[in-house]
Amino acid sequence: MTTRVAIIGAGPSGLAQLRAFQSAEAKGADIPELVCFEKQQDWGGQWNYTWRTGLDENGEPVHSSMYRYLWSNGPKECLEFADYTFDEHFGKPIASYPPREVLWDYIKGRVEKAGVRDYIRFNTAVRNVSFDEASGLFTVTVQDHCTDTIYSETFDYVVCASGHFSTPNVPEFEGFERFGGRILHAHDFRDALEFKDKDVLVVGASYSAEDIGSQCYKYGARSLISCYRSAPMGYKWPANWEEKPCLERVDTDTAYFADGSSRKVDAIILCTGYLHHFPFLPDELRLKTNNRLWPLDLYKGVAFEPNPKLFYIGMQDQWYSFNMFDAQAWYTRDIILGRIPLPSKEEMTADSLAWRERELQLETAEEMYTYQGDYIQHLIDATDYPSFDIPAVNATFLKWKKHKKENIMTFRDYSFPSLMTGTPSPPHHTPWIDALDDSLEAYLTDKSEISRAG
Ligand SMILES: Cc1cc2nc3c(=O)[nH]c(=O)nc-3n(C[C@H](O)[C@H](O)[C@H](O)COP(=O)(O)OP(=O)(O)OC[C@H]3O[C@@H](n4cnc5c(N)ncnc54)[C@H](O)[C@@H]3O)c2cc1C
Ligand SMILES: NC(=O)c1ccc[n+]([C@@H]2O[C@H](COP(=O)([O-])OP(=O)(O)OC[C@H]3O[C@@H](n4cnc5c(N)ncnc54)[C@H](OP(=O)(O)O)[C@@H]3O)[C@@H](O)[C@H]2O)c1
Repeated sequence: MTTRVAIIGAGPSGLAQLRAFQSAEAKGADIPELVCFEKQQDWGGQWNYTWRTGLDENGEPVHSSMYRYLWSNGPKECLEFADYTFDEHFGKPIASYPPREVLWDYIKGRVEKAGVRDYIRFNTAVRNVSFDEASGLFTVTVQDHCTDTIYSETFDYVVCASGHFSTPNVPEFEGFERFGGRILHAHDFRDALEFKDKDVLVVGASYSAEDIGSQCYKYGARSLISCYRSAPMGYKWPANWEEKPCLERVDTDTAYFADGSSRKVDAIILCTGYLHHFPFLPDELRLKTNNRLWPLDLYKGVAFEPNPKLFYIGMQDQWYSFNMFDAQAWYTRDIILGRIPLPSKEEMTADSLAWRERELQLETAEEMYTYQGDYIQHLIDATDYPSFDIPAVNATFLKWKKHKKENIMTFRDYSFPSLMTGTPSPPHHTPWIDALDDSLEAYLTDKSEISRAG
């Protein structure tokens, strides 16, 4: 009987898994039968933008948390695929912090070239996964929204690549039920222009708070307050942006903070993170973790220790992203192909605990991305994923952090050389703060064409 592998999700992680198998096949390997289930109509996961919020056209929870005008929050050189470079895709060097549409185009380019689209059943949501000890098979039950049918198929392996930045973590603060303005979670934020001329409060102190606040500033919010639970972001904010400690309560139009201060606000955006949420998995197959660098129960960050025929890709907190998913997908592929043997459950758990122990010692950002880089290196050393210069990626992260500290509104104006090809990236033709058009066409226009037109 042919071995069958189900892949849940066609975002960057699921697509990495398809590409990993396809690249082995291209080198002459026999690969299993692959079926990728994707609940959206197209691939790209988070990068497949939708104006919708709440439920989608099929009544499924809207997956993407991305918004208009979103630009990469780290240099593209840190996420570049080692087997498909930006140079190859765009045919010319492009600047270092592309908007969403440009990165979506890049993600699509690799898998179009690999010809893996036919493996994907779009508009098909996974409803349930179960495992039968006797047969050693998973039963995956899905709803095909094209035909409105529910059906089940059996698989030898399941790869869960359904992402973990889609189900919002929504705390409640005293007085929310009486607040007269809009309260929303970052997951439902779509267009900063909605907040033009408004006084906006963002709750949280991580990437969403920083970037959604910056978007609102860029597109004309009157004032911003960000507030933190554990530690301030601590950037040099523009004059109309204040950072405050914890939100304590609100009334109809005012927010009250832990330092005793208060401010009138028109809208509250909860940038309070996301839950790992797998409603289609039973307890015994479900990863239970918060957003961190080393979730437990995953051998080498991928194989689910209680049942290592189930894999998870991309479930870690992410300094590295696309090339980490690749390293994980190549490693998972090689376990499934029998190229990498799995040790006993005790050995797997001991290995994971050693990584967790190291994770618990990390204090600085530099230590954290270096740790994640070491993890990626560890995986790619075991497979044929093209090796790349991870210390150079870490050095780029370090510069990025420094640029953000210098000026949070200008860090995207810097550019870096590719760590895959060495090609220097040109500076973008317009400083980020003035670049209001985030379309692919606008981004890829050369500076010389703009000066000619001007
Ligand atoms: C607002 C925001 C901005 C970000 N910006 C950056 C950035 O600038 N740079 C960066 O590197 N990373 C960024 N990220 C991180 C981003 O999550 C990763 O880049 C990447 O998209 C993760 O890929 P993934 O495939 O693991 O998950 P996702 O991209 O979330 O894809 C998961 C896929 O699984 C599908 N799926 C889920 N449930 C089911 C189901 N039951 N049945 C079938 N299909 C299902 C979804 O529809 C989706 O297509 C950002 C994340 C967010 C939320
Ligand atoms: N491209 C872009 O520009 C962009 C934009 C947005 C997001 N992203 C990506 O999206 C992912 C998720 O980022 P995220 O910022 O949404 O989530 P996150 O990194 O998990 O951060 C969650 C934040 O919410 C805070 N929080 C949680 N519960 C809270 C509560 N009850 N009260 C107050 N604060 C609370 C946390 O505070 P503590 O520190 O106290 O825990 C933390 O600051 C990241 O990978 C990021 O890179 C990228």
